[in-house]
Amino acid sequence: MSEKNIQTDVLVIGSGIGGLLTALRCSKKIKVTLATKSTLSQTSTRLAQGGIAAVQDFTTDSFEEHHADTLRAGHAINKPKIVKQVVEMGPEIITLLKTIGVEFDESLHLEGGHTHHRIAHVKDMTGKVIEETLIRAVRKSKNISVHEHMLAIDLLHKNNICQGATFFSNNKVVAIEARETVLATGGVGQVYLHTTNPIVATGDGISIANRAGVKTEGLEFIQFHPTALDESKSPQLLLSEALRGAGAHIVNTKGERFMKKYDERGDLSPRDIVTKAIFEEHKKGQVYLQFEENKKSIHKEFPTISAGIKQKMNLDLAKDMIPITPVAHYLCGGIKTNANGETSMKHLFAVGECASTGLHGANRLASNSLLEAAVFATKTADTVLKNYTKNKIRLSDKTTRLTPATQTYKLKSLRKKIQTIMWEKVGILRTTDGLKSAVHDLNLIRPLLPPPHIINEEISTTRNLLEVSLLIAKAALARKKSIGCHWRA
Ligand code: SIN
Repeated sequence: MSEKNIQTDVLVIGSGIGGLLTALRCSKKIKVTLATKSTLSQTSTRLAQGGIAAVQDFTTDSFEEHHADTLRAGHAINKPKIVKQVVEMGPEIITLLKTIGVEFDESLHLEGGHTHHRIAHVKDMTGKVIEETLIRAVRKSKNISVHEHMLAIDLLHKNNICQGATFFSNNKVVAIEARETVLATGGVGQVYLHTTNPIVATGDGISIANRAGVKTEGLEFIQFHPTALDESKSPQLLLSEALRGAGAHIVNTKGERFMKKYDERGDLSPRDIVTKAIFEEHKKGQVYLQFEENKKSIHKEFPTISAGIKQKMNLDLAKDMIPITPVAHYLCGGIKTNANGETSMKHLFAVGECASTGLHGANRLASNSLLEAAVFATKTADTVLKNYTKNKIRLSDKTTRLTPATQTYKLKSLRKKIQTIMWEKVGILRTTDGLKSAVHDLNLIRPLLPPPHIINEEISTTRNLLEVSLLIAKAALARKKSIGCHWRA
């Protein structure tokens, strides 16, 4: 039974760049409720180092080239119309973020798969600065009501019409009824043993949408970032591709560069190619990132990475060989949306990493993700503002069987088991037998979880991890041929 009901025009679930920008744009005209499972700033956006890919210098670069780079990285199964829409909105998004208060550096970075320097950034802390700037604006808005530590459990829906969602908050079940609902719940990195993603990236939105019968697609396309710090603890520190854009090379134990053996674009090949190359070379020994000459300015340009490496391994980014490894980084697929962010359920939208807009194809081009989230936040908000009066809230008498757990369940080891299965059998290189065995092993975990109506943060997110893992493993099994970041032996 719902303990408390809230009614709102728009419910936004999640507080990365997609959720915050959607909320801000809607709040100019209507009331918004923004709910997030942790604090506002605990998001993948905050950890994004690289920046936002957007054509800005039209004397050397063009929309056509950004479009072509995106298709080449995505192995041409991207949706060209969506690529065009996103790429052409790049400059507008940079202006929008500047207007809200983000101060980008003057230089543009270069990253893998890009034929030009076109990454707008703030040193190596672009996501953090964007997140903090947007949070300040959200906190100022009188039309946005913020609810932290509110975990979404399920959608409220009837006849394929979404009417909000149920949440777990303060050990209670809360229903938020909304005319329009936006899932901006981020990625799934925590399904893997090794990832750059924060602890909150448990695939909640995808799991919630799937339970309600909303269409998903492309879940087999998990992008492994080739250059995370090879440390035992997860999440692993990301070593931005922009380091390679600034002159760092990938080398083996003898200090030899090997990337040209795999692709003529060398160290700056798209991510799927670099990941596969490092995966192969790792069989022979450790792989490293290294600047050829002691480039001291690098400490100033990449302060987060430089300090992280010093603190974790006592290494010097400018002159030492830094041990690297590929780890799970980004979900290219997700909840299927159209050009306006609309899903297959009426009055339900998806924005950011949880969405599959068709931009990325089989492998995302570096720094296209914050751009995509911002573009679709804009499109979603504009569609919400046009349509929201058409959905009359009529579920106020809605009851739910959800019950907060009254006993403690020990789920840490089950979580680790899911992550290990996914890493070993649904990881960088996938085999038919491995994928079948993953589906089998994951199914054996299901009965070990409490019944579906028993909820709390740990139970519900572990349930989501398991469900999303199964969806990924089944999608990977169904796609028999290697393409992009889906690599079948
Ligand atoms: C990076 O800086 O290498 C990561 C940025 C991204 O994921 O696009």
